Amino acid sequence: MAQALYRKYRPKKLGDVLGQETNMAILKNAATNNRLGQAYVFYGPRGTGKTTTARLLAKLLNCEKRHTDPVFAKLGEPCNACRECTQIDAQNSFDVIEIDAASNRGIDEIRNLKENITVSPATARYKIYIIDEAHMLTGAAFNALLKTLEEPPRHAVIVLATTEYEKLPPTITSRAQRFPFKKLGKTDIMKKLAAMAKAEKIKIDEPALELIAATAEGSARDAESLLDQIASLQANIDCTAVERITGRTGILKLHAFAEDIVKKDLKGSLARAAELQDDGYNLVVFTKDLIHYLRKVLSVKIDPALGAAFEKELTRDEIAALKKLAAAADAAFLVQCIKSLIRAYSEMRYSPFAAVPLEMALVENLS
Ligand SMILES: Nc1ncnc2c1ncn2[C@@H]1O[C@H](COP(=O)(O)OP(=O)(O)OP(=O)(O)O)[C@@H](O)[C@H]1O
Ligand SMILES: [Mg+2]
Ligand SMILES: [Zn+2]
Repeated sequence: MAQALYRKYRPKKLGDVLGQETNMAILKNAATNNRLGQAYVFYGPRGTGKTTTARLLAKLLNCEKRHTDPVFAKLGEPCNACRECTQIDAQNSFDVIEIDAASNRGIDEIRNLKENITVSPATARYKIYIIDEAHMLTGAAFNALLKTLEEPPRHAVIVLATTEYEKLPPTITSRAQRFPFKKLGKTDIMKKLAAMAKAEKIKIDEPALELIAATAEGSARDAESLLDQIASLQANIDCTAVERITGRTGILKLHAFAEDIVKKDLKGSLARAAELQDDGYNLVVFTKDLIHYLRKVLSVKIDPALGAAFEKELTRDEIAALKKLAAAADAAFLVQCIKSLIRAYSEMRYSPFAAVPLEMALVENLS
C-alpha cells in the first residue's frame, strides 16, 4: 500500500511547519544557542504539528552534523541526511521513544520509561521520549512521571503532546516549557495541498482545494487525508467531486446564496435552497457555513479594513468578492438575517424537516 500522503509530506524542517511561527522561532533560537530544554508540552488541536515538532526537536538534539559543524548548527535546523536524522524520519531510532498514553492509560509505559530513562542513549547524544495523547495518562501515571520530569537525566528529553491541555495536572505542566499549537489558516493549508498535488501529479482546481482546506477546519492532517482519499477515487478533482464527498458546499455556492440574501431575492434563494436539498447537501452544515459567511460580510461592511483579518481564512479573490458584497449590503438587515439564521440553525438540528426552518427564515427576511 502506498504511504499515506500526510506521512509522506510531514515537514522535515522547522521552516516547513506552517502556522506555528512563534513556536518554531523559539525552538530554532534555543537550538542555535544550545539551550533546548528537557521537558516540553506541545498542546493544541489535532493535526497542527505537535508530533511533527516533537520529532523535529529530536532531530535537532541528535543531528550529527549539528554536533560536528558549528556553522551548520547556527541554522537551527536538522540536516536530514545524517544517520540520526534519517533514522528518526524512518521512525526507527532507538533513542527516540514514542509512547502512546491512550493504550492502557500509560501505566506500564511510564513504569518502563522510569526504568529505562537512566540508561544512556544507544547511538545518539540524547534520548527523547515523546508521550502522545498525554491527557490519557492516569493520575498514578502522572505521579510516577513527576519526579522524572523534574529531574531528568542529562541525556534525556521528555515531550508531552496533547489535544486536551486542561486535562494535564498543573504539577506536570508547570515543570515543562509549554508550546500552544494553533489551527492552521485555510490559505496555508491550500498552499501546502497545492504543492502536494503538484508533486503527486494530482489534477485539482482551486475551488476544490479551497473546499478541502475549509472542511479540514484548521487541521493539516485532515486536509491531507481528504485529498488522498479523493485522489484515489478520481483523476481530475473539481469542486463538485469534493462537494459530493464532503456533503459540503464550496465558497462559490455560499457566496451566490449570500448575494441573493443581500439582494433580497426571495425566489432566487428559495430555489437555491431547494437545489442544495435535491443535490443531497447537508442543509444544517450549509446554514452554519452561511452564518459564518454573512458574519464576515457584516464585519467588512462595518470596517473594510477588517478584510485583512480574514487573510488566513480567505484567498485574495475571496476577500475581493466579500468586499464587493459588503458594499452592496445593509448592516442592520444583515444583523437581522444572521439572527434569524442562527435561530433556524438551532431548530434545524433537531427537526425532521431541515429545510423548513431555513426557508422560513428566508421568507421572513426577504419578503
Ligand atoms: N503545522 C503544520 N504544517 C505543515 N504540515 C502539518 C502541520 N501540522 C500537521 N501537518 C501535516 O499533518 C500531519 C500530521 O501532523 P502531526 O502528526 O504533527 O499532528 P498532531 O498535531 O500531532 O495531531 P494529533 O493531535 O492528532 O496527534 C503531518 O504529517 C503533516 O503532513
Ligand atoms: Mg500527534
Ligand atoms: Zn542530521
